[in-house]
Amino acid sequence: MDKILIRGGKPLKGTIPISGAKNSALTLLPCALLTDEPVTLRNLPRLADIDGFQHLMNQFGVSTSIAGARPSDFGRVMTLQATRMTSNVAPYDLVRKMRASILVLGPLLARDGEATVSLPGGCAIGNRPIDLHLKALEAFGAEIELASGYVKASAPKGGLPGGSFTFPVVSVGATENAVMAAVLAKGACELKNAAREPEIVDLCNLLAAMGAKIDGIGSETLTIEGVDRLHGATYRVMSDRIEAGSYACAAAITGGDVTLQHAKADEMGATVAALTEAGVTVEEVKDGLRIAANGKMQAITLTTAPYPGFATDMQAQFMAMLCMAEGSSVLTETIFENRYMHVPELNRMGANIETKGRTAIVHGVEGMTGAPVMATDLRASMSLVIAGLIADGETEVNRLYHLDRGYERLEEKLQLVGADVERVGAD
Ligand code: EPZ
Repeated sequence: MDKILIRGGKPLKGTIPISGAKNSALTLLPCALLTDEPVTLRNLPRLADIDGFQHLMNQFGVSTSIAGARPSDFGRVMTLQATRMTSNVAPYDLVRKMRASILVLGPLLARDGEATVSLPGGCAIGNRPIDLHLKALEAFGAEIELASGYVKASAPKGGLPGGSFTFPVVSVGATENAVMAAVLAKGACELKNAAREPEIVDLCNLLAAMGAKIDGIGSETLTIEGVDRLHGATYRVMSDRIEAGSYACAAAITGGDVTLQHAKADEMGATVAALTEAGVTVEEVKDGLRIAANGKMQAITLTTAPYPGFATDMQAQFMAMLCMAEGSSVLTETIFENRYMHVPELNRMGANIETKGRTAIVHGVEGMTGAPVMATDLRASMSLVIAGLIADGETEVNRLYHLDRGYERLEEKLQLVGADVERVGAD
């Protein structure tokens, strides 16, 4: 298995192009199931998860083609067309590798009137049930059956009658599945306490471009008037606000000055506020954000929350950055029950972090030392890379497949700004 070697201590300087958002792309791709016309997505990141989703769509009989991507390009264009569906079953061996596959449930149900999808099971950061996905679809009139590790959803003849559902907790994926099921319903569907992440806005914008009727985009109440059919569209995936935030932490911890090209401040409000509070200079520039360290960072308090709160997907990266701040920072993870697996690995690099349940106290240290470390999940892996960029000596990050799921050509982007980093195949 590949690993990354990082020799820390070099301030990052220059410009990093930010790719298309993984967590938007994974909900835009299944929208192609909602029409038999071509859907073209631009600015798709080259990531293992995107490849996985393309494979899942192919096995339904959806044709996919990649255009205009030279090996040196970041991102690519994919056209998908669901002309003749040959299956509406998402099998276990595909779903278990990528839990976002559950996002085909809503669109398959909307298109075919039935869908059979393997239950995704848990993952490293938590058991991540899908009960809210199912409750929302039932509220719109779907029949849900659970058997032998699969969920089977079916709609009455003539399509989902529609209805209203209030989420007891905010769920990004459940909101996405419900919206994609609702756009072809017979009646009107309403979602209250819906997720408001920018990726949901991206999804609603693509669906609207395909002819869907959605009110309240960007708010916690979405009202969808079902239509008989949707047409194809060409759409550019939004920039990845989590990738941008991750590289911002890397720039800050190394005392660097980096421009994040294509990053959008208005989608990163809580991240920008946290960086600023820690003493990092953040400046909006033409088509991007400039992140400049400003002497030693100050400790801060962070609590993760649904958008527009501080993103849980930024918690591990900020924790790594705050290891080098003056004072003790307090982080509270409210979204997932097991999202501190990076802590023992950071402590092996000389960090001084204590965890008590959902709270972590990060005592700033004078320096860290490189070490062989193990990645456990996508964002934890990035926190180890960020720490390795400041640590004395060499850090070896193993199990790179975690990183490759969410960071397009990470080592090349870091090399662009002067990091001493290389990817090596396992010996
Ligand atoms: C999405 O996951 C993201 N993944 C996650 O990013 C992100 O951490 C998460 O939203 C929160 O922002 C994608 O978009 C592909 P949720 P999702 O449903 O949709 C509970 C990354 O690193 N819940 O908003 O699965 C759940 O257990 C990944 O890029 C239920 O109880 O997250 C969690 O505690 C990691 N029942 C909370 O809600 C349900 O039916 C939020 O989960 C669904 C969720």
